[in-house]
Amino acid sequence: MTQTYPLQAAWRFVLIATLIVVPFATHAQNIPSAQVLSRVVQEAHAKFKDVKDGAPADYIPELAKVPAELFGVAIVTARGDVYTVGDVDYAFTIQSVSKPFTAALVMQDYGSANVILEKIGVEPTGQKFNSILATQIIPQVSVNPLVNSGAIASVSLVKAKNKEERFERIMQFFERLAADKLTVIEDVYQSEAATNQRNRAHGYILFASDRIYSEPMEAVDVYTRQCSIGVSAKQLAVMGATLANSGVNPITNQRVLESKYVPKTLALMMTAGFYNESGLWAFTAGLPAKTGVGGGIVAVVPGKMAIVGFSPRVNDAGNSVRAMKAIEYISDQLGVNVFGSGR
Ligand code: DON
Repeated sequence: MTQTYPLQAAWRFVLIATLIVVPFATHAQNIPSAQVLSRVVQEAHAKFKDVKDGAPADYIPELAKVPAELFGVAIVTARGDVYTVGDVDYAFTIQSVSKPFTAALVMQDYGSANVILEKIGVEPTGQKFNSILATQIIPQVSVNPLVNSGAIASVSLVKAKNKEERFERIMQFFERLAADKLTVIEDVYQSEAATNQRNRAHGYILFASDRIYSEPMEAVDVYTRQCSIGVSAKQLAVMGATLANSGVNPITNQRVLESKYVPKTLALMMTAGFYNESGLWAFTAGLPAKTGVGGGIVAVVPGKMAIVGFSPRVNDAGNSVRAMKAIEYISDQLGVNVFGSGR
């Protein structure tokens, strides 16, 4: 007669439970409690809502019309829990926050992160996002995928038969990252398309140097449309949370990006996400993040969460002042600086 000892039964239970649970497990680790996360988003919003520094970007005329007072803060965890305060449903243009996501799509399209190294570059410039000078002094010309020239080169690398398919593939990838339907904000697109002579210059400089991989004005136009995709702070936080969760969208549980491309994408964000303020950002917040002149910033805490700030007033580097302050505050409060909390 066999006898089942209580300990054996317990182990059997653990084994069966592990077999059932592990395939569905997220990549989430040590996520702060719901109470702590709702407190920090509330505090970050309350602390910085009266900051008036900076101004909405106006070199894209339509952007100057976005209400300057908007301010939203959102956290989405790697388990898909959502914490928000303020204007988190307002759709603003993603602008340069789009750049790391398209770079990730390119890595996935070519089945290797080396495509970025070989065909674009990865060095930060210490210069502004649209610097022509950087393209002249950095040997790779395209510089890195997070400045305009490298972002235009990224778009040119997306595998597509024509312009429509090029944009559609980017849009569908972004929608899978956001777990939501997204739309282009047409007024901003038209406004930028009519005033983007400098980006066209980037396109032709890349062309003259053999560093663009589609017809150059096609790449510039698709890049402009990509920048005009509307996202809310909440949707952007889901996009970031997909990176935090190793490429699996925590809302849909679908794998959007192979996990091996996530650290490469985050490395680009850490070194170049804030252009000429990337060093300052690493020094203060210590998180891989990306800014856009639409006022959005997404920061990623690997394995834990994405933190998004949205507020249209930007500084001279094109980075949202209130969003930077809010994310920096939350990073400090949670002790999630990737270099260590220093505590
Ligand atoms: O190409 C441009 O100038 C804009 N579509 C994007 C620039 C941008 O967002 C810079 N970031 N802070």
